Amino acid sequence: MRILSGIQPSGALHLGNYFGMMRPALELQDKGEAFYFIADYHSMTSLFDAAQRRRNTLDVALDFLACGLDPKRTVFFRQSDVPEVTELTWILSTVTPMGMLERATSYKDKIAKGIAPMHGLFAYPVLMAADILIYDSNVVPVGRDQKQHLEMTRDIAIKFNEQYGQTFVIPEPQIRDEVAVVPGTDGQKMSKSYGNTIEIFGEEKATRKKIMAIVMDSRTPAEPKPDADKNLALQLLKLVAPAAVAKEFEDRLRAGGLGYGDLKKALYEHYWNYFADARQRRAELATNLDYVNQILAGGAQKARAQAQKVLRRAKVASGLA
Ligand code: ADP
Ligand code: TRP
Repeated sequence: MRILSGIQPSGALHLGNYFGMMRPALELQDKGEAFYFIADYHSMTSLFDAAQRRRNTLDVALDFLACGLDPKRTVFFRQSDVPEVTELTWILSTVTPMGMLERATSYKDKIAKGIAPMHGLFAYPVLMAADILIYDSNVVPVGRDQKQHLEMTRDIAIKFNEQYGQTFVIPEPQIRDEVAVVPGTDGQKMSKSYGNTIEIFGEEKATRKKIMAIVMDSRTPAEPKPDADKNLALQLLKLVAPAAVAKEFEDRLRAGGLGYGDLKKALYEHYWNYFADARQRRAELATNLDYVNQILAGGAQKARAQAQKVLRRAKVASGLA
């Protein structure tokens, strides 16, 4: 079984990325042959600073390796090191209906947020389909916001197969319901573009400040909170604290008597401990960038060999070869 996922190097990774995509992806490493990549081509639709892209790409590599990506088991690479994917994007674009792209909610959302409409942004799902199909991927772990992109990938693969004969494997998304949407400090979906994130490897003081600023209501500590499960700090605590600890805080909140400040302090401490080992590993890796670059180069070689096979299959099927 081939498992594949990608993440854009568009900014520091946060708890939403970690629990929504990274950890599920890392847990799948021993369930099959995992291919994970840094989607630097995709980042060109929203990030226009070259130095920043280079820095972010390295940061994502460090984040993944520190969090447990095992380069012996998993093929880890940079998207643009496999240029075949852009060739397949063109081929797929010729079986992609305009109407399908026009219905893409992530495109519409980005335009609504004021990002200038541009062809790359519009064609983003076709490149993503190529990413997935070029490795004969069976399973794609992502957060819920990527569900529609996966549906488009499946539709594009089916269309090509109908037009030119059985060529592509039809992939399945894998979305974890319990962490499908990690809330941000303001209660909206945690997202870089909403400024409501808690970074995985944030600087100590700044992260503490963000956690202490998580939005709460104005009820007094003494008041019982029958809706404790809706409390943002508690929802995040459930992700980073042992279940029994989170349960105890939930009970105290429900019964009344627990102040929000104490709850947030507990959240901060559990968050900090949860990533302590990874933080240490990341610091070590950061002093050995040659090693990190070697891993990406080795991953690219393996990924490329696979991509060339599938691209060749698509070219033969469609009469290009
Ligand atoms: P952002 O919204 O911060 O720009 P990305 O779009 O780069 O994040 O998402 C990268 C991966 O992390 C995707 O698989 C996405 O589904 C997942 N993800 C992002 N934010 C969340 C969240 N708040 N909850 C769950 N998963 C998320
Ligand atoms: N669009 C994804 C995101 O923003 C990143 C991505 C690009 C991806 N290509 C992919 C994810 C292929 C899974 C598979 O999160």
